[in-house]
Amino acid sequence: MPSLAKPLSQQQEQKAVLRVEDLHTWFEVRRMGFFKAGDVRALDGVSFELYEGETISIVGESGCGKSTLAKTILGINHITKGSVHFLGEDLSTLDKEGWKRYRSNIGYIQQDPYGALPPFMNVQRILEEPMKINGIKDKEEQQRRIRQVLEEVKLAPIEDFLPKFPHMLSGGQQQRLVIARAMILEPKMLIADEPVSMLDASVRIEILQLLQALQRRHNLAIIYITHDLSTVRYFSERIFTMYGGKIIEKSSTQALLKEPLHPYTKALFEATSDPDVQNLYSYKDIPSGEPPSLMNPPKGCRFHPRCRQIIKGLCDQQMPPEFWVRDDHAALCWLYKDEKNA
Ligand SMILES: Nc1ncnc2c1ncn2[C@@H]1O[C@H](COP(=O)(O)OP(=O)(O)OP(=O)(O)O)[C@@H](O)[C@H]1O
Ligand SMILES: [Mg+2]
Repeated sequence: MPSLAKPLSQQQEQKAVLRVEDLHTWFEVRRMGFFKAGDVRALDGVSFELYEGETISIVGESGCGKSTLAKTILGINHITKGSVHFLGEDLSTLDKEGWKRYRSNIGYIQQDPYGALPPFMNVQRILEEPMKINGIKDKEEQQRRIRQVLEEVKLAPIEDFLPKFPHMLSGGQQQRLVIARAMILEPKMLIADEPVSMLDASVRIEILQLLQALQRRHNLAIIYITHDLSTVRYFSERIFTMYGGKIIEKSSTQALLKEPLHPYTKALFEATSDPDVQNLYSYKDIPSGEPPSLMNPPKGCRFHPRCRQIIKGLCDQQMPPEFWVRDDHAALCWLYKDEKNA
């Protein structure tokens, strides 16, 4: 069984920056602050690799675990079970210095754009801060990096922007600054959690083009989390669909656009054949019903209560394994049990 959504020949050629194996993040829920009522299984067995210079888009409804995945990779959330390796190093073995080094290698664009920038710091200080924390104390080096990064994100003329505070910037300029800060330590990987969801359509495209340009220049590996299905086809090599704390479909972008496999992904993507990147498509044709409870997930496949293609006695009884239908395309769905081996 290939473990990755990439042809084996390509897997060997490309260098994995990140390896996530059977990752679980469960949050304990306590009643009256004392009695354990159960666990929210926000991440429930997620595995994949991310390669140098590659973008993976992660899509799925609200609450399916996208941000939890980002935060667990970043070490903000705990790992309940499973592992994360970055450039071959197991995060669970890192000491304080190791964590500092690791974090300086990952740029993070968090989901909440308003909480992202400290209101009482100007642009100069916002960009200096991560360098100070990470031991880049040489003033000349600091200035060199600030100039380079502001040029790259096109906040120019630079002198005009350095003294400005976040509230003096437009939404698009604020997001450029967030990206500049994420890039200032010259990371190898970027995690962008809904980086354009709060912006106008025209600005949204500019910001995505900026991310793409940075990726090419720095050979960045990117995890792009989004609700905006119209952008993923232009922006990513692979697309993963999440549902109920699991990745239920992994595919190359090409294969997914040709033929989504999982009934849930089909419903998400088939209605959005509109190639207009400005057309924000927001899950309007997903099957009716609620996303699954993460505390008491349904028996069997988590999607079965909403699925139009349910196989009774199987889908409602057993969780499907990952079936690889093609070298670059897998689905967690019993419909494909007769395809290649799981
Ligand atoms: N720190 C936490 N403590 C307890 N539960 C949490 C915590 N963080 C996330 N959760 C729960 O985990 C589940 C997944 O949340 P997550 O934020 O990862 O969803 P998401 O896919 O990013 O959603 P959205 O698209 O709305 O951003 C939710 O049920 C959420 O309430
Ligand atoms: Mg989120």
